[in-house]
Amino acid sequence: MTTATPPPSPPEPTTRATDHSPGARVALVTGANKGLGRETVRRLLAAGLDVYLASRDAERGRVAAGELGARALQLDITDDASVTAAAEQVRREVGHLDVLVNNAAVVGALDRTTEQVDAEDLRVVHETNVLGLVRVTHAFLPLLQTSPAGVVVNVSSGMGSLGRTSDPTAMESRWPSLAYASSKAAVNMLTVQYAKAFPTLRINAVDPGLTATDATGGMGKDITEGVQAAVAMALIGADGPTATFTDSDGPVPW
Ligand SMILES: NC(=O)c1ccc[n+]([C@@H]2O[C@H](COP(=O)([O-])OP(=O)(O)OC[C@H]3O[C@@H](n4cnc5c(N)ncnc54)[C@H](OP(=O)(O)O)[C@@H]3O)[C@@H](O)[C@H]2O)c1
Repeated sequence: MTTATPPPSPPEPTTRATDHSPGARVALVTGANKGLGRETVRRLLAAGLDVYLASRDAERGRVAAGELGARALQLDITDDASVTAAAEQVRREVGHLDVLVNNAAVVGALDRTTEQVDAEDLRVVHETNVLGLVRVTHAFLPLLQTSPAGVVVNVSSGMGSLGRTSDPTAMESRWPSLAYASSKAAVNMLTVQYAKAFPTLRINAVDPGLTATDATGGMGKDITEGVQAAVAMALIGADGPTATFTDSDGPVPW
């Protein structure tokens, strides 16, 4: 495993991609009909990739993909049949996958105290954020392994950092978050375990930082800044880092 040195951020896109050159690297972003996922698709298209915009709602995905010039793909990460069908569609259409961005997630009920959160609350959040990520990664591994430089980006969170949530000076330590934070800590460990198991792939976790999306009720930095770490990691090559956790400023403590 190499040291977590974030690669330089790619330039901001100035054009809209509407067609895909043959031989372009193929990427797939989950939960991409809105928010950070949608912006990640826009940036990867602008970088010249051929991008699947995956969305659990087919119509919302079709609209977003049409606006951006991406390929639409129905994919509910909690549904085995949907994930299997999506992997089969990508296999049939392009035959391989170079970049998988595991972005889809839910935050769960934010109005509950730690005392009020029960096992069912945790199950709902972990079903998407943890089991969903495993389900998608598992299904697309065969396609990633046919790439000369397969890359997986797991969109984690500073809330999943044990270092930050236990550091009283860090913003992340101020918010109670039993379900979401524990799910993102699990994402971090999955990242390390997958990276060890598949050394020919580059598998990294990133933290967008607090970003204004529906998930935060519009609180946080602009979405174009929030995707910097994910886009930078999506564009690394075979010599890039693996088993790292970074944000746009550099390494994040696990
Ligand atoms: N925003 C932040 O401050 C922040 C900070 C740190 C980490 N993150 C992480 O960044 C990622 C994106 O967050 P965001 O802020 O962009 O959230 P968002 O605006 O709420 O978008 C979440 C996306 O995930 C999709 N999704 C949820 N469950 C799904 C499922 N079962 N199958 C497929 N897609 C599903 C949603 O689809 P629907 O539209 O159908 O609901 C939506 O497209 C998440 O992993 C989040 O944890 C965000």
